Amino acid sequence: MTFSFGTIYKIRVFGESHGTCIGAVVEGCPPGITIDTGRIQAELDRRRPGRNILTTQRKEGDVMQLLSGVLDGVSTGAPITMIIRNEDVDSSAYKNIEVTPRPGHADLMATIKYKGHNDLRGGGIFSGRMTAAFVMAGALAKQVLDGKGIKVLSHIVQIGNVKAKEGIEDQKIEGIDQDAIHCADAGAASLMEKEVYGAMSDSDSIGACIECRIIGMPPGVGEPMFDSVESVISHAMFSIPAVKGVEFGSGFQSASMKGSENNDPFIFKNGKIITKSNNAGGVLGGISTGMPIVFKVAIKPTPSIGKRQKTVDMKTKKETIIEMSGRHDPCIGIRAVPVIENMAAICALDLLMRSGL
Ligand SMILES: Cc1cc2nc3c(=O)[nH]c(=O)nc-3n(C[C@H](O)[C@H](O)[C@H](O)COP(=O)(O)O)c2cc1C
Repeated sequence: MTFSFGTIYKIRVFGESHGTCIGAVVEGCPPGITIDTGRIQAELDRRRPGRNILTTQRKEGDVMQLLSGVLDGVSTGAPITMIIRNEDVDSSAYKNIEVTPRPGHADLMATIKYKGHNDLRGGGIFSGRMTAAFVMAGALAKQVLDGKGIKVLSHIVQIGNVKAKEGIEDQKIEGIDQDAIHCADAGAASLMEKEVYGAMSDSDSIGACIECRIIGMPPGVGEPMFDSVESVISHAMFSIPAVKGVEFGSGFQSASMKGSENNDPFIFKNGKIITKSNNAGGVLGGISTGMPIVFKVAIKPTPSIGKRQKTVDMKTKKETIIEMSGRHDPCIGIRAVPVIENMAAICALDLLMRSGL
């Protein structure tokens, strides 16, 4: 079992969906950083359940409590511990999943791996709620990145078959209305909303794709061979439940391109070498180029759905039907936006620190 991530800026997460709390311990935050707890809370609020009809109706305040590592609003260099308490806990909908595991969820695999001792309530450690810990640690990392002129932005670029325009300006992504679907293309956003309502009215769920940009990363960051920029970010992204794909720059589309189309020509701008295009997604040889690091993350449709689905009964050893009740996100992608963004901030800061920057 591994609940920690990072080399210098290290995070350790703990808690369960229906336990006492969810938390993160951060080691490696430099001393002397002024910590704005309001900003950490604001990031948590972006992820918080029950904010609108398009997300799970579990109502949690997700109020962050800072337990260690900050004195008079300034980091001391000691581990920083942050928690949120679980308040709106209703485990009744999870009574039978040990016997009839949910298709698409981790119930069966967790029961096999942990020999039935795992906490299945609300998905236990496999719940999307664990990602609040990633958000707290990332929101802290963002405050260190600020001082280095680096920012991380993200928005939804696809829900179901609806896609946003390519190449939307950074400023538009930064200015997104945080309460709606987090897509900077307003026209596509309203169609995406319809896709989510369509899935909901059919007792179903729907997948999504999120684009993330790390802007201001200097060239030369990344640790080939095995801790390349892509490897570290992909590792982090695949630790987020429901993530099923990560691509950098032209990604899978590059399989259908010619070298002459995919190569990004080097040019000089204000005395600096940059590239004219950014099909590489800001990474060459696993090392940052100085261009924005751009990647997309595919999020699968929520496994817990109201529709009748086939599963097995572990007691009778017969096939059976499951109909999930409970409170679930119809489209995980909507709440995953701040999770991906803050996880990317953790990676960016750790990679920078490993380069001595
Ligand atoms: C922010 C977030 C919210 C989630 N909400 C739900 C949910 O309401 N219901 C559900 O069944 N899965 C939800 N998930 C996904 C499950 O946690 C995930 O599918 C499950 O742990 C199995 O892992 P895997 O999909 O990576 O294989 C959520 C994931 C995230 C990141």
